[in-house]
Amino acid sequence: MTKNKNQTLKERDFLSILDFSTEEIFKIFSLAKSMKKNPKKYSKTLDGKILMLIFEKPSLRTHVTFDVGIKQLGGDSLFYASSEKNRIGVRESFYDVAKNLERMVNGIMIRTFGHNVCEQLSEHANIPIINGLTDLEHPCQAIADYLTISEFKKDLSKTKLAFIGDGNNVAHSLMLTAAKVGGNFALATPIGYEANQMIIDSAKSVAKKTGAKIITTNDPMEASKNADAIYTDVWASMGQETETEKRKKIFLPYQVNSKLVKEAKNDYLFMHCLPAHRNDEVTDEVIDSKNSVVFQEAENRLHAQKSIMYELLRD
Ligand code: CP
Ligand code: NVA
Repeated sequence: MTKNKNQTLKERDFLSILDFSTEEIFKIFSLAKSMKKNPKKYSKTLDGKILMLIFEKPSLRTHVTFDVGIKQLGGDSLFYASSEKNRIGVRESFYDVAKNLERMVNGIMIRTFGHNVCEQLSEHANIPIINGLTDLEHPCQAIADYLTISEFKKDLSKTKLAFIGDGNNVAHSLMLTAAKVGGNFALATPIGYEANQMIIDSAKSVAKKTGAKIITTNDPMEASKNADAIYTDVWASMGQETETEKRKKIFLPYQVNSKLVKEAKNDYLFMHCLPAHRNDEVTDEVIDSKNSVVFQEAENRLHAQKSIMYELLRD
């Protein structure tokens, strides 16, 4: 059965920021704000719905916020403990997994390595698939992050977000969200650690329609200049642990510290998806400063994902 391709988000997948239109992203923000303000109003909206949570990488925030979020909407979750032997697509085919699960649960959130794992489930399962992080994208994070920025800055089209560090999954989803909302996005990475070229091309193509400005550079000072928000993430993502020591040397000039943030506006927001490696990619001084909104971002994962789950899973 084909998934809903009509005007609503109902029964659609969320694998990439590109799956949502600009209007749909703003609708998600506005519903998330309403849910944050008045959670009781939505407490039965996903009554009886079961969301399966599959984690093939570690998690704190994503696990807790999806679990708590579906319960706060009247549904329930099922945690699938993935191990070497029962990884999705290994013990049995993606097709067989999808055809089983669509008869048992109402939606699947998956955190995994290859983005193709999400795509395979999406292709075969007639229930919504939500990307809880792959090597390519972390779309729920970026939605929560722009929701957070919008709580401080009225007009996202006038907001510059500078991402300093690795051109990774989080950088990709933020760049695409900036493109969708018409924002100004600057990414500074070391040479050899740039963002995926397909993501940059997609973001620039969306930007032509929305008026967004997407800049990529190897100069962290240039990227941070007049920024409204400075964002960083770990230098070695999950799955890249063996490169940690090598990356520490390469990324040191990209550390977000008190010298770098002087380039930003005085009232800049410091952002990080967390977990942070304190005093590597960001100094204690910056992450613990009054400009830091990292815990508000983390809380907003809950509200943003409740909004996404509601739109995708509702009757
Ligand atoms: N930011 C984020 O996704 O956190 P977890 O890895 O703890 O889920
Ligand atoms: N880029 C990080 C994000 C963690 C939330 C990783 O993939 O490990």
